Amino acid sequence: MKHLIDIKDLSVDEIDEMIKVAKDIINHPEKYSHKCDNKILATLFFEPSTRTRLSFESAMMRLGGKVLGFSEANSSSVSKGESVSDTIRVVGYYSDIIAMRHPKEGAPYVASSNSIVPIINAGDGGHNHPTQTLTDLMTISSEKGHLDDLTIGVCGDLKFGRTVHSLINAMSRYKNIKFVLISPDELKLPDYVKSNVLDKCKIKYYETNTIEEYLPKLDILYMTRVQKERFFNEEDYKRLKDYYILTKDKLKIAKKDLCIMHPLPRVNEIATEVDSDPRAKYFEQANYGRFIRMALILKMLNIK
Ligand code: NCD
Repeated sequence: MKHLIDIKDLSVDEIDEMIKVAKDIINHPEKYSHKCDNKILATLFFEPSTRTRLSFESAMMRLGGKVLGFSEANSSSVSKGESVSDTIRVVGYYSDIIAMRHPKEGAPYVASSNSIVPIINAGDGGHNHPTQTLTDLMTISSEKGHLDDLTIGVCGDLKFGRTVHSLINAMSRYKNIKFVLISPDELKLPDYVKSNVLDKCKIKYYETNTIEEYLPKLDILYMTRVQKERFFNEEDYKRLKDYYILTKDKLKIAKKDLCIMHPLPRVNEIATEVDSDPRAKYFEQANYGRFIRMALILKMLNIK
């Protein structure tokens, strides 16, 4: 049985194949509308979510399956003190596949060793978010036409931003990728990601405090929100939250075919005036999420 805890649980070939299936789903949705008849997806969200949970649920329903679950820990027996392991053990009897999000790093991994059905990590603390990364790769592949030969700027909270960690992990396996890491000093990419991923894969990267310094060279600009919920100190959050605000004016020096991405939710880091710029792809990105999650569910349930 396969779980998806870390994006590296999928090979590059498997990811490329899933993107192909997701594109086929976009073109021929009717072919897939009964693939999961009689299957149940459980969504166990111990942390808030809009896109991830709803796109998973929509994905399963569009495949003909059904969904159950909870969207906050307070409405489950976790509030009575139940362990994740016990919850997962039981939900496995009620469903065929589980997508779970948890504030603790590693919780989906622990869950997977107690589960009789496949577990998908839908975000664990400030650690990983592999299905957002599948969404991101689907977006890049669709909007740029390729996943190799790209200079990718990741901007904002690179310390706690789990989407960034998984994205760097995934993209480091493609050819001729360079990263520009844009963050305030306090929110730099953790050393373990630099040494275990960037250095290991011999990926060139540059670190900077400003968006402008490398903007003209970027093919992708991946903006992120400062992760308020991971801060110990409200003052630090307030000081850093509006550090970067992408505006139309700043974008004047960027490439004509730059692809601007954001996993959403956006707070202030992209001015709404940018939404009408044809290079803004973050809402398309959210749309791609459902199709790649449909392809993922099919893969994990071994449905051809
Ligand atoms: C991201 C997350 O949950 O990590 N959201 C998402 O799943 N699209 C990004 C974020 O919350 O900032």
